[in-house]
Amino acid sequence: SQQVTYYEAMGGDDTFRRLVHRFYEGVATDPVLRPLYPEEDLGPAEERLALFLIQYWGGPTTYSEQRGHPRLRMRHHPFVIGEKERDAWLLHMRAGVDSLDLPPHLEEVLWDYLTRAAHSLVNSEG
Ligand code: HEM
Repeated sequence: SQQVTYYEAMGGDDTFRRLVHRFYEGVATDPVLRPLYPEEDLGPAEERLALFLIQYWGGPTTYSEQRGHPRLRMRHHPFVIGEKERDAWLLHMRAGVDSLDLPPHLEEVLWDYLTRAAHSLVNSEG
């Protein structure tokens, strides 16, 4: 039987690009998160997160071709991430997920992952 990846089931590149675009619209005006982002232009960060998620869910592996192994804990080490930062991140990601109108079971799988990943990247008691 044909195996369909979550990437395909969720709608491919377009879905993850919409998700991450909506997320960064929130980050752009967020007083907690915006100062963490080193670059003035959030476009490159948006691209990295989109490519990471596309790869994670079974799509093209462009992220690792460009960036190598994800090593997310290590890559977040330079940023102080406490509960406040985690919850702000999840707030904007929730807006992104809501904007997708995915079938409920796919939305749940996606949100469950994002929630767990965000909790795993907390690196400070804040
Ligand atoms: C990069 C913050 C959670 C995936 C970054 C950057 C910041 C940041 C400031 C640097 C921006 C850049 O130049 O790329 C945060 C905060 C989080 C969080 C405050 C709250 C918990 C997550 C989660 C994921 C994720 C849950 C994955 C599901 C990434 C990726 C990059 C990145 C893929 C780019 C890594 C690279 O290739 O350099 N994050 N992040 N982040 N973040 Fe997060």
